[in-house]
Amino acid sequence: MAIQWYPGHMNKARVQLEDKLSLLDVIVEVVDARIPASSRNPLISDIVGDKPHIIILNKADLADPNEINKWEAKLKSDGKFVLKLDAQHNTNMAPLFKLIKLAAKERIDKLEAKGASNPTIRICLVGIPNCGKSTIINRLVGRNVAIVGDRPGVTKGQSWLKTSESVQILDTPGILWPKFEDQAVGFRLAALGSIKESVFHADDVALFVMEYLKENYFKSLVKFSRLSEQSVNELPLPELLLAMTEKYGMRDDYEKMSLFLLNQLRKGRLGRINLEKVEA
Ligand code: G4P
Repeated sequence: MAIQWYPGHMNKARVQLEDKLSLLDVIVEVVDARIPASSRNPLISDIVGDKPHIIILNKADLADPNEINKWEAKLKSDGKFVLKLDAQHNTNMAPLFKLIKLAAKERIDKLEAKGASNPTIRICLVGIPNCGKSTIINRLVGRNVAIVGDRPGVTKGQSWLKTSESVQILDTPGILWPKFEDQAVGFRLAALGSIKESVFHADDVALFVMEYLKENYFKSLVKFSRLSEQSVNELPLPELLLAMTEKYGMRDDYEKMSLFLLNQLRKGRLGRINLEKVEA
């Protein structure tokens, strides 16, 4: 099944961001550390142009530590400012403020040369739904201003937010691309909850995830399946899903089992897993 999702407000968000770009000093792009490429909007580089560009690898607590380090090195070698973050549990935003000021150094130097002291830097956070933008904004602002929700695609209004540092934030809705050219990208996003559940079949996504786990995190899959290594190794994936469904006492409700697998994966219950690795 091809997953396609193109809510009109996503395009509106892109246009709004393009409109506001001249007001911004730094763009902070938030990606999901478990799928750093698939959770990036291919349009973002065009939109950002040569503005300083920070990439936050968020949800680092859920991602595979080895893989995040590789992604961090790769993105840095591409000339980006990069920060690994667990915005859910980490309240210390000093490293992010420091990176924002480093990214804006040229602008700060210019304003200071004109006599400004401690000039205000304006930033915006961008990213696909559910990558943690609102959580990070709340952390930066230090109180609960932005609405944190778990429903992908929820529209949020734009406004400037003050922080305790000389940094102001434009709250902006997430941006998603109009079309997934690569179906695997859609599956990865669906697996981690960045696509509304109504647009995909949970069992298709679960089978995609199981295939990936079998190849890359075999032990985690075996443990989760409650089946033997041999069964996981030898059963064709649809049969393995049915065997797991039965093992979990869900009779033949493989849809329920699929949703359960995806939920557990999202919460990190299968371990710290990356659904996307840096290509060698
Ligand atoms: P968005 O604005 O980009 O759409 O994302 P949002 O901040 O609403 O975050 C989406 C979900 O991801 C929230 O969970 C949030 O708590 C969680 N989250 C954000 N950053 C991190 C992180 O670094 N690590 C982990 N583990 N989770 C993170 P939720 O279930 O919707 O709400 P909540 O009840 O957990 O707050």
